[in-house]
Amino acid sequence: MAQITKPQIRIGLIGAGAIMRLSHGPVINRSNEATLAAVFDTDLARAEAITRDFGGKAFDNLDQMLETGGVDAVIVATPNRFHAEGAIAAANHGKHVLCEKPLAITITECRAMIAAAGQAKTVLQVGFNQRFWTQVKIAKTLIDAGFIGKVHQMRSIYSEKYTAYPAMTRYRYDLAQSGGGTIIDLTIHRIDLARHLVGDFSGVVAELAHSVMDEKVDDNVFLLTRFQNGARGSLASNRYSPNIGDGTDLYGTEGTIHLATESINPHNSSPLAIYTEKSMKDLPDILREAHYPDAWWKGFEGGWITLKPPRISPYEEQLKSFCGAIRGEHPVEISGHDGLRAQEVVQAAYLSVQSKGWIDLPLADAAPFILPTYA
Ligand SMILES: NC(=O)c1ccc[n+]([C@@H]2O[C@H](COP(=O)([O-])OP(=O)(O)OC[C@H]3O[C@@H](n4cnc5c(N)ncnc54)[C@H](O)[C@@H]3O)[C@@H](O)[C@H]2O)c1
Repeated sequence: MAQITKPQIRIGLIGAGAIMRLSHGPVINRSNEATLAAVFDTDLARAEAITRDFGGKAFDNLDQMLETGGVDAVIVATPNRFHAEGAIAAANHGKHVLCEKPLAITITECRAMIAAAGQAKTVLQVGFNQRFWTQVKIAKTLIDAGFIGKVHQMRSIYSEKYTAYPAMTRYRYDLAQSGGGTIIDLTIHRIDLARHLVGDFSGVVAELAHSVMDEKVDDNVFLLTRFQNGARGSLASNRYSPNIGDGTDLYGTEGTIHLATESINPHNSSPLAIYTEKSMKDLPDILREAHYPDAWWKGFEGGWITLKPPRISPYEEQLKSFCGAIRGEHPVEISGHDGLRAQEVVQAAYLSVQSKGWIDLPLADAAPFILPTYA
C-alpha cells in the first residue's frame, strides 16, 4: 500500500482527454491536498498538452509512469475498455485509484479491479460525481430520515445531445471501446443515484433503441426497475434532443422530492424542490430556513419548498473525498462495489434486450455479457 508521507497526494492521470482537461486537471490544480505529478496517454501529444497547462511529467508508457512518475494515486479516464487494465496495473504498483464511471464494461472486469485493490490494500473509488452535488446530499439526508415517508416510486431522465460535450475522441460510439452508447455514459449516473437514494435493485427490463445518430448505438434508452425494498423506478436517457434533459423525482408516502443536477429549465426551475404536508414546526432546519413565505403572518401548512443550495463543484468534492479515503480518514464513499452494482444493471439490461423480459438482480457471477446490436 502506498504510504502517504507528504502533505499533498501526488496524482498521475491515466488518459489525457476531455474530462481531464475540463474537470480533473483544474480541480487538482486548485486543491491544496493533491498535486499533479504525471500524465499518461497513448497519444503523447495529449499528455504533454495537459502537463503544459496543469503540471506534471508526460508519459506514453503506463508502467514507466507507475514506476518512475512519483505518484501515490491515479485517476483513470480512458475509453471504458481500458479502465480495468489501467486500474489493475496501478493497484499492482500500490497506487490508489479513482476510476471514472463506468468502473469497467463487464462485471467480470469490475470484480478483478476490486480484487486487485483488495490485495494491494489500496483505495478504489468510482467517479459517480453526481452524488457530490449538494442537492443530492440534502435529498439523501431527507430520505434516510424518513421525511418523505417510504419511497415507492422514482423516475429519472438524463439526456445530452451527442454534439454537446467536447470529447477528444469518438470512442463513445465505438461499442467495442465503450461497451455501450447512452446507457453506459449517461443512464449509468442515474442507475447509481437510484441505488444511492432508493436502494439496491432486484430487477430490470430494458428498451434500448437506435433512433437518430449515424453510429448504430443506443441513443434512446428506457429502463424499468424494481428495487429490493419493493419500490419501482424508470430511468430514461437520449443522445439526440438539443437541450440537456435532467430531472429526478422520488415519490414517497409523505412527500415528493424533485432534484436536478446538471441543468434547470422552466418546468423545473430549481435544483431541489420538496413537497410536504408537514407544517412549519415539523420541518427540519434545512427546509425551515429555505422556506420563504409570501406574507410573514401566513404559516406554512404544507406545499412545495424550493431550495437553491450553493453551486459547488462535485469534482472538487470527489477529489476531497478520494484524498480523505487515502489518508484513512473515512471509508471510500463510492467504492468498487458501487461500480460493480451499477455495471450489473447495464449488463442485465443487455440480457433483457435479448430475452425481451425482466432480468433478476443481482446477476450470477458467470452471467454473460451480450452487447446488443442496433439496426
Ligand atoms: N463522471 C462523468 O460525468 C464523466 C464525464 C466525462 C467523461 N467521463 C469518463 O471519462 C472517460 C474518458 O472520457 P473523455 O470524455 O475524457 O474521453 P476523450 O475521448 O475526450 O479522451 C479519451 C483519452 O484517452 C486516451 N486513450 C485512449 N486509449 C488509451 C489507453 N489505453 N491508455 C491511456 N489513454 C488512452 C485518448 O488518447 C484520449 O486522450 C470515460 O470513461 C468517460 O465515461 C466521466
